[in-house]
Amino acid sequence: MGFSFSSQGVVLIVVAVSLLAVCQAKTVVVGGSQGWRFGFNYTDWTLKNGPYYIKDTLVFKYSAPSNAGAHDVYLLPDLWSYITCDFRRAKLVAKATQGGGQGFKFVLNQWRPHYFACGQGANRSHCKQGMMKFFAVPWPHWQL
Ligand SMILES: *[C@@H]1O[C@H](CO)[C@@H](O)[C@H](O)[C@H]1NC(C)=O
Ligand SMILES: *[C@@H]1O[C@H](CO)[C@@H](O)[C@H](O)[C@H]1NC(C)=O
Repeated sequence: MGFSFSSQGVVLIVVAVSLLAVCQAKTVVVGGSQGWRFGFNYTDWTLKNGPYYIKDTLVFKYSAPSNAGAHDVYLLPDLWSYITCDFRRAKLVAKATQGGGQGFKFVLNQWRPHYFACGQGANRSHCKQGMMKFFAVPWPHWQL
């Protein structure tokens, strides 16, 4: 009897903690310890680190412009521009100088796909060859 009661108690606590985890906005460093860099597969990374929820924060960390190069963060307008790395209608969200220190923070506020890419490199090579692109679709928080 006592055993049965405590088992149910444990189950309730586990359920409550899982719900809490789902409802709390999280902060994620894009690329983890790799940060935002050329040659890291962000598509693969985001598949393994999602899903994301509305109000979650993505942090882009990259060093200031140097001879070795620079990075930045753009939002591409749609899936096709994302696939082809077409920046003609892209919106710059973080300049090359904004990735230092604690990094650049982007809050996922809207329930829509966000197509992120680096606009640097000759002929957009960071996006095309450097794999510096990924997309995130933040889910709404279900009110329980
Ligand atoms: C990056 O990762 C994705 C998902 O795992 C994979 O489909 C793709 O082939 C990878 N790209 C490269 C260039 O390795
Ligand atoms: C830029 O990249 C595209 C393919 O993504 C290629 O067709 C084009 O020739 C490249 N332009 C230059 C100047 O390298």
